[in-house]
Amino acid sequence: MAEHVCPWWLGYFLISPFRQWGTQNPDKLLGPYVTPGMTVLEPGPGMGFFTLPLARMVGPSGRVVAVDIQPKMLDRLRRRARKDGLIERIETRLARPDSLAIDDLKGAVDFVLAFAMVHELPSPEAFFRETAAALKPGGRLLLAEPVGHVKAPRFTRELQAARDAGLVEANAPPLKRNLTALFRKN
Ligand SMILES: C[S@@+](CC[C@H](N)C(=O)[O-])C[C@H]1O[C@@H](n2cnc3c(N)ncnc32)[C@H](O)[C@@H]1O
Repeated sequence: MAEHVCPWWLGYFLISPFRQWGTQNPDKLLGPYVTPGMTVLEPGPGMGFFTLPLARMVGPSGRVVAVDIQPKMLDRLRRRARKDGLIERIETRLARPDSLAIDDLKGAVDFVLAFAMVHELPSPEAFFRETAAALKPGGRLLLAEPVGHVKAPRFTRELQAARDAGLVEANAPPLKRNLTALFRKN
């Protein structure tokens, strides 16, 4: 595993209920973008802090595709989804180090959530090419990166990579202690 990838055991802290009582409340943060029946792509879901609420938002006719590089994150995510009766709406996939392996999703995704994960990738350029290709026209991508952890030059590189992939910046929601950007595919 690459050195900069969040260790799997940190996944337990990221699903802490304390997190949803603050500014990262999934319903408040993602509610404006996700509606029933949507196909949502969540790269780097960890143990599913956002995945389970996303699965509730898309409802029984929608789906969430969660792609992580660490099998332990996905195992725990599936167990939590099964316990909450949401497993039928969630597809988990194991990413390759250099690719999310989502070629089959070209033009099929309504919304992408990339929360605190793009900085762990060696190539934001490859990431935005793949996710932009997966989005439908009109589809949106929300990027959030932790302040402090992600320095300005790296975030600037990520924004440029998204633009180079054909995504257009829209109004991002401000989020405490995070750098955020919202993109739309025209
Ligand atoms: C800091 S965690 C954030 C988890 C989740 N998004 C959240 O906010 O709770 C970063 C996640 O990205 C995953 N990740 C790192 N490199 C990846 C890659 N190349 N492809 C897919 N996921 C990756 C890690 O395994 C980890 O689950």
